[in-house]
Amino acid sequence: MKNFTSVYDVQQLDALVKKALAYKAAPFKDKTLGAGKRIGLLFLNPSMRTRLSTQIAAQNLGMEPIVFNVGQEGWALEFEEEAIMSGSTVEHVKDAAPIMGNYFDILAIRTFPSLKNREDDYSELYIKQFIKYAGIPVVSLESATLHPLQSLTDIITINECLNASPLPAGKKPKIVLTWAPHVKPLPQCVANSFSQWVNAWGKADFVITHPEDYELDEQFTKGATITHDQDEALKDADFVYVKNWSTFKDYGKIYNNDPEWMLTNEKLSVTNNAKVMHCLPVRRNVELSDEILDGPNSIVTQEASNRVWAAQAVLSEILESKK
Ligand code: CP
Repeated sequence: MKNFTSVYDVQQLDALVKKALAYKAAPFKDKTLGAGKRIGLLFLNPSMRTRLSTQIAAQNLGMEPIVFNVGQEGWALEFEEEAIMSGSTVEHVKDAAPIMGNYFDILAIRTFPSLKNREDDYSELYIKQFIKYAGIPVVSLESATLHPLQSLTDIITINECLNASPLPAGKKPKIVLTWAPHVKPLPQCVANSFSQWVNAWGKADFVITHPEDYELDEQFTKGATITHDQDEALKDADFVYVKNWSTFKDYGKIYNNDPEWMLTNEKLSVTNNAKVMHCLPVRRNVELSDEILDGPNSIVTQEASNRVWAAQAVLSEILESKK
């Protein structure tokens, strides 16, 4: 693996999931793989789980992680080629990234979208510029359109649950991605990415449900059944993935904040006792009810804990291919 920015950087998804679960069983089995190597973790935006889990994953492999909160503590970076830098940006990525490429062996970056200009955000300019100029492997810690470490974690967690409680032979799990209300416009990254990874995994009946005008980009959802009827979508579901996203077509807007879309135990009653997932952080009693989050169907803590093993599997793949 050279870079990790989407499911297309993974050659064998099942093998990567297996590797992650093996790290969960024995976190230090490759504790010298990254000895003498450094990973730079660059955050242009806030994080809790991604930051801590990737640090722990790197340390489990013997690497030294160095966190740089660029968004708060660094020079404002310019990403446009041939920019006349007379505005607020101070340093061009063309100058900064090669230096980081010399300081580190792997560079990991979080860059959220602006939600102002769809074309710009969906061009993934920021992470592409780091890949172009850093000269070392780049890992996405969530980019403008995707959150691959989260999605790998989600596939790992679904596999783990299915291993613990297998479905009847030949039955595919029904996985439902449901839109949920939120108070502010959020990126489509997690929903795009989850859709991309579930489709690539290819072992589920995958249904996406959202209010009208919340269609995601078809490049990620193609293959899924899409419906505006949440109750119908939830019938017989084995996993329900809850997430808000803002509109894609009329980009970055909130058209609907109907609290009726928040998942409750009553809505869950038509499922196959579904496990409920969310990437976190979550707005309680807006996106997801207390009764779900504090109830027996929620696996959000297991899911977030698995972030370590997803990151460790990805970092080990990169380290092994650099040998
Ligand atoms: N799910 C997730 O990426 O969490 P953080 O934003 O806290 O890293």
